[in-house]
Amino acid sequence: MPGLTAYVGFFEICSPKTGEHVFVSAASDAVGQLVGQFAKLLGCHVVGSAGSREKFMYVTLEMAERVSNKQVILNNYVSGFPKESDMSMASNTIELKVPEDDSNAVLLKNLYLSCDPYMRPRMQKLEGSYVESFKPGSPISGYGVGKVLDSAHEGFKKGDLVWGFTGWEEYSLVTTPQSLFKIQHTDVPLSYYTGILGMPGMTAYAGFYEVCYPKAGEYVFVSAASGAVGQLVGQFAKLLGCYVVGSAGSKDKVDFLKNKFGFDDAFNYKEEEDLNAALKRYFPEGIDIYFENVGGKMLDAVLLNMRLRGRIAVCGMISQYNLDKPEGVCNVMNLIFKRIRMEGFLVSDYYHLYPKYLEMIIPYIKEGKVVYVEDTAEGLENAPAALVGLFSGQNFGKQVVAVSRE
Ligand SMILES: NC(=O)c1ccc[n+]([C@@H]2O[C@H](COP(=O)([O-])OP(=O)(O)OC[C@H]3O[C@@H](n4cnc5c(N)ncnc54)[C@H](OP(=O)(O)O)[C@@H]3O)[C@@H](O)[C@H]2O)c1
Repeated sequence: MPGLTAYVGFFEICSPKTGEHVFVSAASDAVGQLVGQFAKLLGCHVVGSAGSREKFMYVTLEMAERVSNKQVILNNYVSGFPKESDMSMASNTIELKVPEDDSNAVLLKNLYLSCDPYMRPRMQKLEGSYVESFKPGSPISGYGVGKVLDSAHEGFKKGDLVWGFTGWEEYSLVTTPQSLFKIQHTDVPLSYYTGILGMPGMTAYAGFYEVCYPKAGEYVFVSAASGAVGQLVGQFAKLLGCYVVGSAGSKDKVDFLKNKFGFDDAFNYKEEEDLNAALKRYFPEGIDIYFENVGGKMLDAVLLNMRLRGRIAVCGMISQYNLDKPEGVCNVMNLIFKRIRMEGFLVSDYYHLYPKYLEMIIPYIKEGKVVYVEDTAEGLENAPAALVGLFSGQNFGKQVVAVSRE
């Protein structure tokens, strides 16, 4: 009888919906304990009242066990430009405890997710790549910031804040916590760990200082310069005393590069008919360092404008990620004539430098010597649009998704 009472009373009389706030009195009793759990299974927020501390603890523990978990699912492999409709929202339930048979796992509540261009190649079937394809029908994954709710791993405990690989969902069971970094500095916005204090920041640092071997006074060109990586590379180069020009895809972004990030000059590559002529205008004496984020026609034009013994750090080629057949690059022979060193790199090879990077960047942030711009989409529902927006330049600065600000 009590089971049926809870069932009928909750499902038939209350007409409950996921996400609703439910209060149950006498919540540890025969009917109440079931009503609370039915509500949790449906994904409601449930509070119960009970007449003693023991009963309260019991109710809290039982009811916290399973919660609904919204997720972003890849529908199918993608070709061409990604669309919002390539992903869909789904919901399952998750136990807020690491499984007893997993001595390594960490359970995270995801707070911020990072939208990154390399996620596009993961939407197609990859072979022999440094990253794995997403699985159609499953949640996609990427870098994010989360709070540890439970941990079987000795390196993490409940309440820790971390950044690293997680799922595009509200809660994630991370079974490879070696990819997580514990957050030590919490007197800066937590979302920064998706960008300036996370993977893109490390990319800018490693790419500029370790790959470009920059020197004061050199001429530096940065493409996709207003984005997560580019805005930092430009500022690092300015701090070193270089002459820095950036390219970006709108007038507002160009204004930002000059007025907010302190670039010496900037131009809108979409308005330039002849990129070679544009680069000659901005670099009459040529380019010493090119920080490559876009590839394609821009790279070809840069090769014509490099100086003797110039360096090109090949960070990314976003203009190529949605093409079935990559564009060719014609001017590679300049590497020989001008003794240019062109080197690709992956940030993952440089994470051992993360503590050194933090030592440099945290004071820069606090002293206002480096400014940082984020573009935040609110809520997991808006994550697919934010991600696909990268490929048409919708983001103004680092694209973040705020899943929960708790
Ligand atoms: N090697 C590594 O380990 C590593 C790590 C992180 C990132 N990356 C690479 O670094 C680059 C920048 O990444 P991010 O996170 O800083 O991204 P982001 O710049 O914040 O966002 C991407 C930007 O790329 C520009 N863009 C899009 N399509 C383009 C096209 N066809 N031609 C020219 N520009 C285009 C857009 O800006 P506009 O409005 O200016 O067009 C867009 O805002 C990407 O290529 C990424 O893959 C590499």
